[in-house]
Amino acid sequence: MPDESFRDQVVIVTGASAGIGRALALQLAGQGARVAVAARRADRLEQVAAEGRQRGGTLLVVPTDVADETQCQALIDKTVGAFGRLDMLINNAGLAATALLEQFPNLGLFRQVMDVNFHGAVACTYYALPHLKRTRGRVVAISSVGGKAALPYNTPYISSKFALQGFCDSLRMELQPHGVSVTVICPWWVVTEFHEAQLDQAGRPRGPRGRAFYTPNMMTAERCAALTLEAAWRRRREVVLGPGWLAAWLKLLAPGLLDWVTVKVFLEPVIRRARAQGRTTE
Ligand SMILES: NC(=O)c1ccc[n+]([C@@H]2O[C@H](COP(=O)([O-])OP(=O)(O)OC[C@H]3O[C@@H](n4cnc5c(N)ncnc54)[C@H](OP(=O)(O)O)[C@@H]3O)[C@@H](O)[C@H]2O)c1
Repeated sequence: MPDESFRDQVVIVTGASAGIGRALALQLAGQGARVAVAARRADRLEQVAAEGRQRGGTLLVVPTDVADETQCQALIDKTVGAFGRLDMLINNAGLAATALLEQFPNLGLFRQVMDVNFHGAVACTYYALPHLKRTRGRVVAISSVGGKAALPYNTPYISSKFALQGFCDSLRMELQPHGVSVTVICPWWVVTEFHEAQLDQAGRPRGPRGRAFYTPNMMTAERCAALTLEAAWRRRREVVLGPGWLAAWLKLLAPGLLDWVTVKVFLEPVIRRARAQGRTTE
């Protein structure tokens, strides 16, 4: 990919206040793109915008809660109003709520995760479509390996990412005649604020202990962003990162074996830890 592939292109990045979205916005700014950065925390967006301008980009801050369809529409309208066109939409905003399904006191958190990770992406894409068709542009979705192979203790997140994958696969065929590409990125673990922000069954963020399993070898947000932009530039249909492809293949070839390994590696330790701390998972 040339160094300035996205120069002068108009790009929207949702979830740009932290992690992968922030890295995407800054790399696009470094290429001379015009970037609308969206998320709920306006102060964080202003910091990203200031850094992006120093790198040579033109940045527009649009505080947005993607769970609100009206705000998604306003994000698209304000971006096109300011820059006159739209070349790429990156649906990146996301969060997770982790617990056994039966531990959630009601379905409020389940809906919240679906509203952000899935309906938010659908709404932004819906309102962006006429503009993207005009520019033969690009839709990018940051999904997850969890959108290919399920994890227990994560039903809201996994459901949202499977839904996002299906939405993108269906939309890709609809947009092919219009020259608009749809690229799905499925990251494995990436070092961001994601696991701190993860909510428990009561809706409390896990905080710094969420990062306890991070290792120096894990993918950085910058690397994930660079791979995403490369894939978007080449209009790839899908990129599964890290060892995620192994899980995706095992799901097809030996789903029972994958379930067994996943329970051993992911669920049993969670249950052991909860029991050791005197909490119940039953
Ligand atoms: N990190 C990983 O290991 C990993 C692995 C696979 C997939 N992913 C996916 O990568 C994407 C980015 O996550 P990340 O790892 O960069 O996490 P992060 O550092 O926690 O960033 C998440 C971003 O989403 C935004 N967001 C959350 N709720 C929002 C809402 N209602 N409206 C608008 N923006 C919202 C947050 O901003 P505000 O709080 O300011 O709104 C933040 O900018 C997510 O879709 C996630 O599922 C991450």
